[in-house]
Amino acid sequence: MPKKKLTVVGAGNVGASVAAYASAQELGDIVLVDILDGVPQGKGLDLYEATPVLGVDTKVTGTNNYEDTVNSDVIIITAGIARKPGMSRDDLLSTNVRIVGEVAEKAAKYSPNAILIVVSNPLDAMVYTAWKKTGFDPRKILGMAGVLDTARFRSFIAQEIGVSVEDIHALVLGGHGDTMVPLTRYCFVGGVPIDRFISPERLEEIVQRTRQGGAEIVGLLKTGSAYYAPASSAVQMARSILFDKKRLLPVAAYLNGEYGEKGIFVGVPAILGESGVEKVVEVELTPDEMSGFKKSAQAVKELVKEIDRFL
Ligand code: NAI
Ligand code: 2OP
Repeated sequence: MPKKKLTVVGAGNVGASVAAYASAQELGDIVLVDILDGVPQGKGLDLYEATPVLGVDTKVTGTNNYEDTVNSDVIIITAGIARKPGMSRDDLLSTNVRIVGEVAEKAAKYSPNAILIVVSNPLDAMVYTAWKKTGFDPRKILGMAGVLDTARFRSFIAQEIGVSVEDIHALVLGGHGDTMVPLTRYCFVGGVPIDRFISPERLEEIVQRTRQGGAEIVGLLKTGSAYYAPASSAVQMARSILFDKKRLLPVAAYLNGEYGEKGIFVGVPAILGESGVEKVVEVELTPDEMSGFKKSAQAVKELVKEIDRFL
């Protein structure tokens, strides 16, 4: 099989960690792009110098030039800014719409056949931005949030009941934010329903912690947001696409009538293969779960309406 090519736009905390995990897993050759002079080059070289120790044959390079990203198979977009004191939500939104729109357009120009994975926040709205700016088939654009939110949920459950994280299967739907919908009914421990292990009250506390998972890390770090778990989540998605593994993962995917929604990207289970989102899987939801999902989709639609003003 010819070697794959992965471009990571944004060589900050998430982008550099994506490159590190992707290189360690030998996903292919990796190009790190950033506007900062020297930073992507330095991090790329540092990561390449780690490859003999890791025993992997990946070329990792850094650049400020999109020509170096030509013919990428997958592009992961992590460029953007975080909200700073004094900055309104509108300022953040307009800045990240501009950054994500611009980098998506440039990267797409050199890799018209790539699959685009967006990580930048506000996530569901940034996936929509990348779609609008590239005009790509929406099945070739997706966002990373559900894998991370589900990983947080799984790790908290494993810690609570003292079993391997590998044996916890769970599903979190909806937008990446307070309105996300962790589905406790679809949570199993080695095939055994979760209610055999945890009381409903305790499970609800874990659900709340999952919803606040991003804020919990920001509260501890103080100077930024999470990056190891987000980066490993984006790499798991890229791996399924690059190696056509057909993993069924929760991702921000384009809905065209599924779950009663149309024209937005929001978190749903989907099969990821070499052509991107190959199928959105519809699971049966109770009226309560459906109303949680609708509330979450509505929050995404309101953001998208604001974004349409900047596009
Ligand atoms: P960071 O500040 O460490 O890195 C961002 C990088 O983007 C910087 O190196 C910056 O120079 C670069 N950048 C800015 N404008 C650019 C442009 N026009 N072209 C190329 N590069 C550009 O931030 P971090 O922690 O890496 O987070 C990145 C983004 O990912 C943020 O928007 C963050 O909120 C989001 N995020 C999303 C998660 C999710 O679950 N979807 C999880 C974690 C972070
Ligand atoms: C997170 O959930 C900041 O969206 C990011 O950690």
